[in-house]
Amino acid sequence: MSVKNNVPTPHIEAGPGEIAGTILLPGDPLRAKFIAGEYLSDVHQFNSVRNMLGFTGTYEGKRISVMGTGMGCPSIGIYSYELIHFYGVKNLIRVGTAGSISPEVKVRDLVFGMGACTTSNFPALMDLPGVFAPVCSFDLLRRGVDKAEQLGLRYAVGNILTSDMFYGPAEGPEATQKWASMGVLAIEMEAAALYTNAAFGGANALTVLTVSDHLLTGETTSSEERRSSFTDMMKVALSLA
Ligand code: HPA
Repeated sequence: MSVKNNVPTPHIEAGPGEIAGTILLPGDPLRAKFIAGEYLSDVHQFNSVRNMLGFTGTYEGKRISVMGTGMGCPSIGIYSYELIHFYGVKNLIRVGTAGSISPEVKVRDLVFGMGACTTSNFPALMDLPGVFAPVCSFDLLRRGVDKAEQLGLRYAVGNILTSDMFYGPAEGPEATQKWASMGVLAIEMEAAALYTNAAFGGANALTVLTVSDHLLTGETTSSEERRSSFTDMMKVALSLA
């Protein structure tokens, strides 16, 4: 994949070389700012266009970037495309939250999205002569799982659903049950577009999620629980720098 040097882009104001080869991608730009402030040293902000904050710093001596993506496939589709094609980013790791639809996957557990089913039309827009299966990078997955094992964390690896609808019938009990019956573990809103763009651009992608709520039991997490499972997820994601 050749990198076009027409930067800045319409959505990212960084110059050439300002973004590291590995980037963490939370949905919320303020989460990106928090990650940079809490975990990285020598931090430099490279983006504020649309308040989609992006930072580059170092973690345990390795250069790494972090940037918000916004919510949904179109938003992460734009940012991941520009990061891959215009900034030469090679490893894109989404860090986010998901709703579990599996009895085995509890709130606070980590979920590695090995494959991403979707209700979004995003992968279909690649205009392939069949149905594309968005999958993560095996290398990033293996390294992430090794780290989770090493830290003794509860985690699951499998298929997730990238939904285009947070409220409405596509998130209702009937639809959720159908996905669960196919072994899908949890629902989020971005992985399928990220994996599709990574495949198209010859980059590596992974989605690591913490389960913030359980769609079968109605269980949710307190802010303290969310904070500690977020910290666990960050230890895994940052180890991929
Ligand atoms: N649906 C979609 N995305 C989510 C959810 C959900 O229930 N929970 C956290 N992110």
